Amino acid sequence: MKALVTGAAGFIGSTLADTLTAHGAEVIGLDCFTDYYARDIKEQNLAGLRAQPKFTFVEDQLQTVPLERILDGVTHVFHLAAQAGVRKSWGRDFLTYTTHNVDATQRLLEAVKDRALERFVYASSSSVYGDVAAIPMREDAMVQPVSPYGVTKLAAEHLCLLYATNYGVPAVALRFFTVYGPRQRPDMGFHRFIRAALTGQPITLYGDGEQTRDFTFVQDIVSALVAAGDRGRSGGVYNIGGGSRVSVNEVLALIARITGRTLDIRREPSQKGDMRDTFADTSRAKAELGFSPSTSLEQGLQAEAEWLAALLNAPLR
Ligand code: NAD
Ligand code: UGA
Repeated sequence: MKALVTGAAGFIGSTLADTLTAHGAEVIGLDCFTDYYARDIKEQNLAGLRAQPKFTFVEDQLQTVPLERILDGVTHVFHLAAQAGVRKSWGRDFLTYTTHNVDATQRLLEAVKDRALERFVYASSSSVYGDVAAIPMREDAMVQPVSPYGVTKLAAEHLCLLYATNYGVPAVALRFFTVYGPRQRPDMGFHRFIRAALTGQPITLYGDGEQTRDFTFVQDIVSALVAAGDRGRSGGVYNIGGGSRVSVNEVLALIARITGRTLDIRREPSQKGDMRDTFADTSRAKAELGFSPSTSLEQGLQAEAEWLAALLNAPLR
């Protein structure tokens, strides 16, 4: 395998690239270090990879980078580069989302359309569903995103399927459900909650905390990406979820237990763009990719808490 991983300095992209290089693949990582969060954090994500002889890093952005040379000999593309985050995608920031999520994806698809790729795996999102799909969510449910971010992730997913149909690009879309674990982005819930607990800061809770998510551990996401790169159906869409539906209040109770801290929770109104509930029906991914999540929420939260405790030099108990 010679893989191109876009978004390789990010949370999921760097974790995937670690696994691919550990399995002996040649990996080209591409990332432009968007300013959504600090470059230092992304450099830490890349530290181990930069020492790997089979890893090459390209610092550039997908909209303008000369792709022909980069794609030379590439067998697999894992397209994870995007502007993530549902709650920031309103107003003027939307342009950042359309540029990085839609335009960049279209340019990458144009560049691969005449190449003999084995797979093109796209990181889609549970945010494409919105609040109308029945729970558990199936891939054939009606999609009606409730955030502008979700609209851009759905548009890019449709572009992947268009290029599969019209040009035979072997595109596979995985709809990730809220991903967590070591290296989680600093804007995401678990990262903010655990950091606040360990540093004695208040926690901001949006809404009543009874919203639910199918939280998915990052290594399970990586297993799904690898399986999709191996046997995902061209034009196929797959839900990838952690296997349990948990409320934010339940998560907070678990974090209090794992960190051994009393949490200072401050309620704020629920945020525009947030879905009320998510829960994946993963029977298609199970049948076709052999996907089965193996990390429980408690194990995964423990792993994320240990990572942050080491980073902040703040022991768990
Ligand atoms: P992240 O922000 O940590 O990583 C994305 C990386 O892509 C960043 O390092 C950024 O600098 C880079 N990037 C963005 N636009 C780029 C461009 N135009 N050219 C080059 N590099 C660019 O985010 P993440 O949480 O690791 O998410 C990875 C992917 O998974 C994204 O596509 C996201 O939409 C998707 N996803 C994430 C989650 C989640 O819970 N984290 C859930 C569903 C889907
Ligand atoms: C996450 C990612 O951020 C998106 O990039 C991704 O596409 C999406 O999952 C997905 O599954 O598709 P989200 O579910 O909002 O989005 O993930 P978190 O930021 O971890 O939030 C989880 C819940 O905690 C939300 O209900 C949110 O409102 C709540 N939250 C988050 C708080 O109450 N307080 C905070 O400080 C942060």
